[in-house]
Amino acid sequence: MTRPIQIAPSVLPVDFSKLGEAVVALDEAGVDLIQWDVMDGQFVPNLTFGPDVIASTRSLTKVPFEAHLMVLTPDVMAKRYVEAGCQRLIVHVEACTHLHRTLGNIRELGATAAVALNPSTPPSEIAHVLDLVDLVLVMTVNPGFGGQSYISTMEPKIREVRNMIRNAGLDDVVDLEVDGGIGPNTIAGAAKAGANVLIAGSALFKEPKGLKHAVTQLRAAATAAFTA
Ligand code: DX5
Repeated sequence: MTRPIQIAPSVLPVDFSKLGEAVVALDEAGVDLIQWDVMDGQFVPNLTFGPDVIASTRSLTKVPFEAHLMVLTPDVMAKRYVEAGCQRLIVHVEACTHLHRTLGNIRELGATAAVALNPSTPPSEIAHVLDLVDLVLVMTVNPGFGGQSYISTMEPKIREVRNMIRNAGLDDVVDLEVDGGIGPNTIAGAAKAGANVLIAGSALFKEPKGLKHAVTQLRAAATAAFTA
């Protein structure tokens, strides 16, 4: 039994002067979780949300938060993001010297742990930590900015990760998330390749018919195309 399809926003495209309103609007639009793109200006050439920013919106919704830690020092920052109200922390393989230990530390903090792969990183990098995560994120852009083009050559890699999860007997435990360039024209390819959690930023916030319409349309497209 594969995990359900989930549509989740990246908060990156939001007008940061109206973050609270955006979180409430996303809740009302029916998103399954909210992803905070945390960037430290070192791992990626951009700087975004500290834990206090996330904490300031936590009481506005019961929708789960996940922090996508695009940072060089996830071990140093993990505790603060859990305390800010993030139920899941996603760390990048490329930023972790001791990935197995980092994921275990996140679980000891009381959050669920997840691991992200940049476009050039092979799935073999996570072969020995699947038992420690509840989600694998396959990046479909190079991290750092919203509004980039979907890298369709990642679809065979998404399929490879889906097969790894299944072969480990973890289909009903571990989600496969994609992030970057996901929208009406790309979501079917990602879902068909095996992604069941789909992160969208621009495609949600730029939809002229509004957030709820965008979430509904993307969820329908992913559900129709998904192949376990
Ligand atoms: C890249 C970011 C973006 C963002 C989604 O580091 O993680 O992928 O979440 O942005 P869109 O949906 O606009 O590509």
